[in-house]
Amino acid sequence: MKIFLRNARVIEPSGKYDGLFDILIVDGAMQEIGSSLGGNPVNYEINLRGKFVVPGLFDMHTHLREPGQEYKEDIASGIAAAANGGFTGIAAMPNTDPVVDSAGVVKYVLDRARQSGLVGVYQIAAITEGRKGERLSEMKDLSEAGAVAFSDDGSCVTNSHVMRLALEYSSMLGKPVIQHCEDHELTKFGSVNESPETIRYGLKTQHRVAEELTVSRDIQLLEAFGGKYHATHISTAKSVEIIASARKRGLPVTCDVTPHHLFLEDSVLGTYDSDYKVNPPLRTGKDNEALIEGLRSGAIDAIASDHAPHALHEKEVEFDAAPFGLIGLETTVGAVMTRLFHQKVMDMRAIVNVLSVNPRKILGIPVPEFNLGARAELTIIDPDCEWEVEPEKFKSKSRNTGFKGWKFKGSAVGIINGEKFYFSERLK
Ligand code: DOR
Repeated sequence: MKIFLRNARVIEPSGKYDGLFDILIVDGAMQEIGSSLGGNPVNYEINLRGKFVVPGLFDMHTHLREPGQEYKEDIASGIAAAANGGFTGIAAMPNTDPVVDSAGVVKYVLDRARQSGLVGVYQIAAITEGRKGERLSEMKDLSEAGAVAFSDDGSCVTNSHVMRLALEYSSMLGKPVIQHCEDHELTKFGSVNESPETIRYGLKTQHRVAEELTVSRDIQLLEAFGGKYHATHISTAKSVEIIASARKRGLPVTCDVTPHHLFLEDSVLGTYDSDYKVNPPLRTGKDNEALIEGLRSGAIDAIASDHAPHALHEKEVEFDAAPFGLIGLETTVGAVMTRLFHQKVMDMRAIVNVLSVNPRKILGIPVPEFNLGARAELTIIDPDCEWEVEPEKFKSKSRNTGFKGWKFKGSAVGIINGEKFYFSERLK
C-alpha cells in the first residue's frame, strides 16, 4: 500500500522537518520525505496544500464503556470516534463494568482493541479494588498486564493513606497515578459549580474548594512520599495556581484540562440541559481564562477530552438524576483550532505538544517519530475547514456533546497509523 501526501505543512517535535514536504508512505512506513517527489504509481495521492501534518494526536482520558456498558460506546465505536476526531492513540479509563482492576480485564480490552488497530488503545487500571477507594488494586499485576497508568476516575481517592500507597507504587512501577480531584464529602449535596448564576437557576451546587483541597493534599503527599502524580480534568483557577507553584518547587506534578472546562462556562446551565452536567462541573468565565493561560504558559501539560458517552435516555431525565459527562473525541480539535489557534493563543507547535507529545510523555508512551523509515503515525489537520457540530453525524454511539450547534474553524481530516488509515469526508 502506497500513500503519497503532497505539500503537507509538517510540524514535528524534533524540528528537523519544518516546512512543506511531500511524504511517501509505503506499507505503513515513511519511505521518502522531500520536495517535489513523485513519479511512481501509488494507491492514494492527496494534495495537502494548506493542511498540517502532525504526529498522531493522543487522548489520555477516554471512556470506552466496554466491558459492560456497550449501549453507550464500545471499543469499536470509540475507536471510530477517535479516528474521526484525529486521534491515533487513546487511553481508556477503568470505570467500566466490571471495573478494570484485574489483569484479565486489562488484557480483554487490549486484545479487543488490537483487532481494529486503527487507533492505539492503552488501558488505565483502577487504583483501588472496584474503585471503592479502600484497598489498593494489584497495581504490579495490572502494570505487567499492560496498564499504562492508574486512576479511579469518576471517583477520587480521598483516603490519604491509600493515596500514599498508590504514590509509592507509582514510583516503583514508573507509572503515574491519575487523580480525579474531588472531596466527595463536599460535593455530595450538588452537581454544578457554586456561583451566583447557578444558585439563581435553583440548581444544587458544590463548591470549587472540593477540587482544590484534593490537589493541595495530593501535592503534600507527593512531597512527603514521592511518586508520579497527574491531576486530570482540573477546572479552577486556583488548581492551576497550586500546581504551578508546586512545579516551581520542583515537584513532578503534571495535569490536563478538557476542552469543555476551557471553553464552556457555568452560565450555560440556565438551559438546564443535562449535557452540560459534567464532573468536575463547568466553572466560570474567569476559570476558563485561567485555564487557557495555564495551557499557554505551560503550567498545564495536556488537553484531554474526557470523552464520557451516555445514552439519550440516561441524559433526558431531570437534571439531578442525569449522569455526569459529555463526549469530546470528535470536537476537541475543532474547539482547540477555533479558540486557541485562530485566536492566536497557541501556535501549532504548542498545540502539538499538548495534544500529542505531552500526553504520551506523561504515560511513558513513545512519541511517533517523523523520520525516513519510521512508522507513519500522523494526523492531518485542516485549519480552515469550517463546520458545525451536528451530533447525529458523530461516529460515537452517543450524542451528549456540550458543543452542539457550535461553528468551528479547523478540523482533523484524517489519520495514518502504520498500515491503517482513515480519511474523513471533510478532507477536501
Ligand atoms: O463527567 C464525567 N463523566 N466525569 C467523570 O469523572 C466521569 C465521567 C464518566 O465516566 O461518565
